[in-house]
Amino acid sequence: MKLYKIAYKSLIAAAMMCAAGTVHAAGDDTEARIENLLSQMTLQEKVGQLNQLSGYGYHQAMVDAVRGGAVGSLLNEVNPEVVNALQREAVENSRLHIPLIFARDVIHGFKTIFPIPVGQSATWNPSLVEEGSRVAAAEASSAGVRWTFSPMVDIARDARWGRLAEGYGEDPYLTTVMGLAAVRGYQGDDLSKPGTMAACVKHFCGYGASEGGRDYNTTWIPEPLLRDVYLPPFKAGAEAGAATFMCSFNDINGVPSSGNAFLLRDVLRGEWGWDGLLVSDWNSIGEMVAHGYAADKRHAAALGANAGVDVDMEAHAYSDNLVSLVENGTVPVSVIDDMVRNVLRLKFRLGLFDNPYVDMATANRFYEPASLDAARRTAEESAVLLTNNGVLPLKNVKKIFVTGPMADAKHDQNGTWCFDMEKDRTVTPLEALREMYGADNVIYMPGLAYSRDRDTSHFDDAVAAAKAADVILYFGGEEAVLSGEAHSRADISLPGAQTAYLRALKAAGRPLVTVVIAGRPITLPEEKELSDAILFMFHPGTMGGPALANVLSGKAVPGGKLPISFPRMVGQVPMYYAHKNTGRPTFEMTLIDDIPLEAGQTSTGCTSYWLDAGLDPLFPFGYGLSYTTFEYGVPELSATEIGTDGSLTVSCTVTNTGSVTATDVAQLYVRDPVASLARPVKELKGFEKLSLAPGESRTVTFTLAADDLAFHNLRGERVVEPGDFHLWVDNSSACTKQPITFKVK
Ligand code: GLC
Repeated sequence: MKLYKIAYKSLIAAAMMCAAGTVHAAGDDTEARIENLLSQMTLQEKVGQLNQLSGYGYHQAMVDAVRGGAVGSLLNEVNPEVVNALQREAVENSRLHIPLIFARDVIHGFKTIFPIPVGQSATWNPSLVEEGSRVAAAEASSAGVRWTFSPMVDIARDARWGRLAEGYGEDPYLTTVMGLAAVRGYQGDDLSKPGTMAACVKHFCGYGASEGGRDYNTTWIPEPLLRDVYLPPFKAGAEAGAATFMCSFNDINGVPSSGNAFLLRDVLRGEWGWDGLLVSDWNSIGEMVAHGYAADKRHAAALGANAGVDVDMEAHAYSDNLVSLVENGTVPVSVIDDMVRNVLRLKFRLGLFDNPYVDMATANRFYEPASLDAARRTAEESAVLLTNNGVLPLKNVKKIFVTGPMADAKHDQNGTWCFDMEKDRTVTPLEALREMYGADNVIYMPGLAYSRDRDTSHFDDAVAAAKAADVILYFGGEEAVLSGEAHSRADISLPGAQTAYLRALKAAGRPLVTVVIAGRPITLPEEKELSDAILFMFHPGTMGGPALANVLSGKAVPGGKLPISFPRMVGQVPMYYAHKNTGRPTFEMTLIDDIPLEAGQTSTGCTSYWLDAGLDPLFPFGYGLSYTTFEYGVPELSATEIGTDGSLTVSCTVTNTGSVTATDVAQLYVRDPVASLARPVKELKGFEKLSLAPGESRTVTFTLAADDLAFHNLRGERVVEPGDFHLWVDNSSACTKQPITFKVK
């Protein structure tokens, strides 16, 4: 059974078609209605539309601001009755009756919580990402939210960075596919329909390159790298009709995004022709003062407006300064008018002028069975089996010892950015295993109370209890607070005394299955040796427990693949598969413990690797085991030579050589071994997730155009250079086989 095929170009085309059709879906008179309204607005009312406030509750100050037209959108109000009350003030009691937009960070579910986005990416199944976003839009819009600040498509190559949890990993192609799926899920084919939300592609741009993986830190991104790695998911989002963008906190080469006219005007509006609404991040306009880029908030307001930031989230920079900045000519009124047009256009697209209120008859509709089922399926497909000596799936087990700080963590299982999550709705692994095996057959002792717990006093009792079981299931990882915004870590090993606890459990002499639930890659070198199997799951959300029980028991077969490299140790970071070859590639390494005493200076070979870590990650991008095995044939090409405007097809036969039906992800990688700039050793250019029965073979076919091999040179030009290219089709970026060569002439 073919699950789905990602032909990148057709994906973009399809997204553009459906989204483009909605830009003026409210009838082509939208622009005329905008102009008509704009012509009636005072300068104060125009500036009011550019002001976004975080609001909770119906109180006089907010009512006065809304009635006075001093605010255009609110974030964080999720009570539909309050939404309607404030909306009534705007629609019925303000001078021009312009409706408000209500926004919220609905990042991976509203009430039904899906895996964190990087976990959704581990499914390599965009149809699940789209389904989850559609569920989130249905739930959130039933509470009055019509604008979500998602998807985040920041490329993350540094596992220390806490916000990689919110994105789709290290690869531009995979991130683009998943980001577009989320936009489709949120926006549907017509934003004016109920159950939809405006998407917000963020954080524009380069936020994941924060130096040292320390959040909010400076970035230095040469233009070729910016255009080849960090911009593509955003460009795709703009082309696919994402309704809004959000700029980022970081500076790019010294210029904060909130004042970066190159990015916001030249690229986003000029090159890409995008006509959506660009919102700042929280106070990011005001933060240009701290950056040392603006003298004061008034200067920051001028920089933000002239650079193209339409809406000021919570800096009060626009509301306090823009009127006088226009009056003294610092900011042209034409700039303000364009900003207001972008805001009004979104309100028309959302249908708010015609249907501004939440239908209370269908308000607060959450946790539908189909939504919970989608969340479980997504969590199941996000599970990545990292090691397994055959202990999984569990078989012939009667007594199970369940332990660890994440076995019954109703809050932390949901991960970061789930403000509206209700922890009592979470089904934990402990609960699901008791349901599956019978409570009498599950012995539970946490051993550690939470992921950072250093109290080892319960270890002995736990180890003693474990001896009565047939298998030990350890659930560890990170609490939710250890990833996400402002939560970077300099040490990405298991926190607290978890590794010491695993050593103690090993001594119980029972098979030890380690389940790691976290918001980022975790370094697991010792745990890999201690465990009979390691199953990794990025924070899986509401249904993580049933998903894990199904995978551990074999009711579901793991098929997740890593969307980000897992380093052996943090000193290897930044670690990513699409690295450069260097002039000293490593073919053999002498590791630190193998170096003879008084070894000569050049005795370890003088190539590029770490003496104490080697070169490779512990687990590479695209990697994940199954309960079966797969064999990949030699890829066959429709041509071995194509023109710079040509394309070829790549076919490869995949066979399930094991004994259970399972999915695998065939991944297409290419390399340009000689070019005017040193190119990565490989880059993902396509993938197909397929399900095969035991013994079944299927031929996957990709179309690869010469244009897919383009890169940007030092002049910022996008070029396709003739020459030889290497190509692999495999089920991880490790690509152990010899590549196939073809020529672009
Ligand atoms: C935060 C985040 C951003 C979020 C916004 C509103 O600081 O950086 O991703 O959407 O503020 O909560």
